[in-house]
Amino acid sequence: MRKIWALNTAALLTVGFCLMSAPALAADIAAGQARAEACQACHGAQGISENPEIPSLAGQQDKFLQWQLVFFRSGRRANEIMGPMAADLTDEDVRNLGAYFASLPAGPPPASEVDPALLQAGEVLAEQHRCAACHTDTFGGKQAAPAIAHQHRDYLVKALADYRSGARPSTGVAAMTEAASGLSDSDIAALAQFLAAYR
Ligand code: HEC
Ligand code: HEC
Repeated sequence: MRKIWALNTAALLTVGFCLMSAPALAADIAAGQARAEACQACHGAQGISENPEIPSLAGQQDKFLQWQLVFFRSGRRANEIMGPMAADLTDEDVRNLGAYFASLPAGPPPASEVDPALLQAGEVLAEQHRCAACHTDTFGGKQAAPAIAHQHRDYLVKALADYRSGARPSTGVAAMTEAASGLSDSDIAALAQFLAAYR
């Protein structure tokens, strides 16, 4: 008898938990596109930025985009430009913008000169540091781990240096703070070259 009661309680708790964690409202890609007009000047008309210091967002992981916007909004990821841009985004805007940019086709490697020796050094470092374990074998990312292939080299250098210095806190179990902590400046330059030109 007691056992049955326990089972029923467990079942009730499970139902309650499922209701509380019901999936978030579906994102509205069209609304995201409309909201993204404010982003085009810097991130490009199709989410592909032409400025090497501004990341491309096209085809980026939805979850990652949403987290970064929330971090800019709260100031956890402090940035003079993106802080004010994100300040008045609602949770709904964040969901819609994430879905919109994730739905755009990712771009090719940005056009910039490639240093073959640096690229090769970067490939070896990416292997040694197991970057693919989280960013996937093609560096296209998954969930909160972003796509890092075909991102601008200068931006990648800044991102890795910001994690290393602690200027940019990482999510979860501080994955990137740890991953970047042992990298030298030349390691960072090589990894950025390898990822930007990844084929
Ligand atoms: C005035 C230029 C500018 C505008 C407008 C702008 N951004 Fe940005 N955005 C930046 C810069 C610069 C960065 C890189 C910040 C850094 O160095 O960490 C960035 C970073 C981001 C990132 C982080 C991407 C990553 O790979 O880590 C997201 C997401 C983002 N912006 C979304 C948006 C959205 C959505 C809008 C429109 C609502 C927008 N941005 C408008 C300049 C801009
Ligand atoms: C344990 C998992 C893990 C490993 C290993 C890892 N990363 Fe990451 N990486 C992440 C996560 C999660 C994020 C997003 C963190 C955040 O919210 O800022 C990220 C973010 C990044 C970014 C920021 C991209 C952007 O658009 O802003 C770069 C660049 C990056 N990682 C490169 C690397 C490189 C290079 C390596 C190997 C040296 C590596 N990562 C190893 C999980 C990992």
